Amino acid sequence: MEYKPVPGPRSIEYLEKILNLYPGGAAPDARKKWETYATFITDRAEYSFLYDVDGNRYIDFSSGWASNNVGNAHPEVVDAVVEALKRYGFVYNHVYAIELAEKLIEITPDNLTRVSFEVSGTEAAEAGVSYALTHTKRPIIISFIGQFHGDSIGARNIGSESAERRTYFESMQGGVVFIPYPRNYRIPKGMNPDEFSDYVLWYLEEQVLEYLVEPNRIAGILMEPMMAEGGNHIPPKKFWRRIRELADKYGWLLIDDEVLTGFGRTGKMWGIEHYDIKVDLLITAKGLTGGLIPIGAVVGSEEVMGITKAYSGSTFAGSPAGCAAALKTIEIIYRDKLLDRVTKLGDEALNIMKEWVEKFEFIGDARGVGFLLGLEVDTGKGIKADEEVARKIFVESTRYGVRAIWDEEPTIRIYPPLNIEENILFEGLYAMEKAISKVAQELN
Ligand SMILES: Cc1ncc(COP(=O)(O)O)c(C=O)c1O
Repeated sequence: MEYKPVPGPRSIEYLEKILNLYPGGAAPDARKKWETYATFITDRAEYSFLYDVDGNRYIDFSSGWASNNVGNAHPEVVDAVVEALKRYGFVYNHVYAIELAEKLIEITPDNLTRVSFEVSGTEAAEAGVSYALTHTKRPIIISFIGQFHGDSIGARNIGSESAERRTYFESMQGGVVFIPYPRNYRIPKGMNPDEFSDYVLWYLEEQVLEYLVEPNRIAGILMEPMMAEGGNHIPPKKFWRRIRELADKYGWLLIDDEVLTGFGRTGKMWGIEHYDIKVDLLITAKGLTGGLIPIGAVVGSEEVMGITKAYSGSTFAGSPAGCAAALKTIEIIYRDKLLDRVTKLGDEALNIMKEWVEKFEFIGDARGVGFLLGLEVDTGKGIKADEEVARKIFVESTRYGVRAIWDEEPTIRIYPPLNIEENILFEGLYAMEKAISKVAQELN
């Protein structure tokens, strides 16, 4: 695989314009960020590839930040969108929304019978919480440290991806009690992930419920079944099962945020299916429409959403083009048997990544399920040093022709389209291994 400088000259021309257009462009380090992130301007995208304006091709291990689950601009989804636009443009009360609501009820767990359309994952996450608060008439939500639910002020209040993201609107926060997420890595010394997940349950039952909030004041638990943005952590089965038991005992609702884990990313349609537990509200967006048109949805139980006074949604929620894209995406996922494929290829990819842990001493962990894959850098020199090495691997991977996901964290995430060609998947992993070797040489 050819090694190329990124960004190339044409990308830089566009990036120069951005300095005068987008927020932050006047900051002293704005120009440097291109090199830091190996930013390129995309010229076009198709299937499992991105092409930049300098003519470079990249294997896409980011899938539009885990949205383009059936590949970039899947022609059948594009056709469905065009047809819907020609038929409707934009209207309310159209046929596609009703068909999609029926379909979502069919493909989500049996107890979920009602659908509310939204515009984005952010809006859907806020709506899920709104249904839970309204139904239970209780004021408190339990959420997990490190979860991401969006960047609106409301979504940042119910999530906590980083302290920085909560800065400047501290006074607007409230109604949420955070507990640690059952992480797989960077947990207290001497504990394994299993023991840490037991500790989290102990913390909830013996500390939060004893000292912070009475159980009957809690409306629900907002959960990512696997924590994606916060570092690709996969909780043990017993964890979510115990949370369900507690929810049954105290009348809490489980609000399952599947914005990133849904639509086959983990090899099952929904991440929660790996745990075999019931949830009361399921939140979806991103992959719902194959990444083509933004819509989101909350799918909820009859009890919670059958009769409700909750408000949610906005002008373009459930737009005709979005619903048509979603119907086609769902058809493709089942027709092309993408779930089985992701399970098989995800296992094979993870085995390769685990070899990297053996081979390179600064790769601390490789973990994931299906195509929700992550690589954790651990140099032993602390988080900042690890973030920097992770960044280098991400940049060098880009220069070897693979675009993964790195967001100023010690983890590099690999989220390919579910239908990536087998040989392209392995070619991409091979290129990443070359990038890691290059970084290893630099570190020595
Ligand atoms: C778990 C989760 N919830 C909500 C969101 C917000 O979705 P959107 O960016 O579509 O608003 C994201 C986005 O990454 C997410 O990962």
